[in-house]
Amino acid sequence: MAAINVTELDGLGVELSGLDLRALTESDFAMIQAHFSEHGVIFFRDQSLSEADHLDFARRWGDVNVNRFFAALPDFPQIALVAKEPDQADNIGGGWHTDHSYDHEPALGSILVARELPDAGGDTMFASMYKAYETLDEETKAEIEHLKAVHSGKHIFGTESSTYYQNSDAGNGRIGNPEKADELTDPVHPVVITHPLRGKKALYVNPAFTVRFEHQTKEESEPLLSKLYAHVMKGDFQTRFKWRKGSVAMWDNRSTWHWALNDYQGHRRIMHRVTVEGCALN
Ligand code: OGA
Ligand code: MN
Repeated sequence: MAAINVTELDGLGVELSGLDLRALTESDFAMIQAHFSEHGVIFFRDQSLSEADHLDFARRWGDVNVNRFFAALPDFPQIALVAKEPDQADNIGGGWHTDHSYDHEPALGSILVARELPDAGGDTMFASMYKAYETLDEETKAEIEHLKAVHSGKHIFGTESSTYYQNSDAGNGRIGNPEKADELTDPVHPVVITHPLRGKKALYVNPAFTVRFEHQTKEESEPLLSKLYAHVMKGDFQTRFKWRKGSVAMWDNRSTWHWALNDYQGHRRIMHRVTVEGCALN
């Protein structure tokens, strides 16, 4: 087998090459886990994963989540379809977010496999929430140290006419179950979490699903949330991943944000996502 190469990317993440995700030894997998925990996002190139291989790789990490809102592949209920057709204007994941923060036990991570790509565009941005936390000024760190925030998926996936998916064509036929979103009980998570694997502090609020700080109204929460978001969006700890045929990305939902760029109007982009269950955050 070819030598395993590890390339650290600017901002965050590593690209691992020389590995076949269908044939990992225990020590390969341990090495991958260590990079995942350290860097928050890991990228693989030139893979040839079938749907079953994709699931097998995901199961090495833990239980697989069956997504409540995304359409699944007909033969693989555990693989969510993240697709945009040429006639759709909006996309799934088209703003900074982290998956599943609206759950009481947010997913550990997601494994995305590129199936069909536009000729140009359709990159994914990632941001490090470890670095976001580390680079805050001491005053802000002290201000958020003991704060908690309420997260929700209702305004994104729910039935209300104002939700994201009721107001865009991103979900056409692919996002469903809005009644289930209405019934979610909104969790409260610390604003600064200690990462369950790495034991390191990360900023854990995001513009898509964080609604407000606990014991504050949305209006009261807005100035500080906006300040934290602006800090992440400055771009000092981001990376931009260019997909190719055979590319696979796995991100840590607890220590990163991501954003699917929507700059390929009129073209198709088909991705398959498997999400691994996580745990409560402290
Ligand atoms: C997702 C997502 C990013 C992309 O699947 O959760 O945000 O680039 N996808 O498709
Ligand atoms: Mn996402």
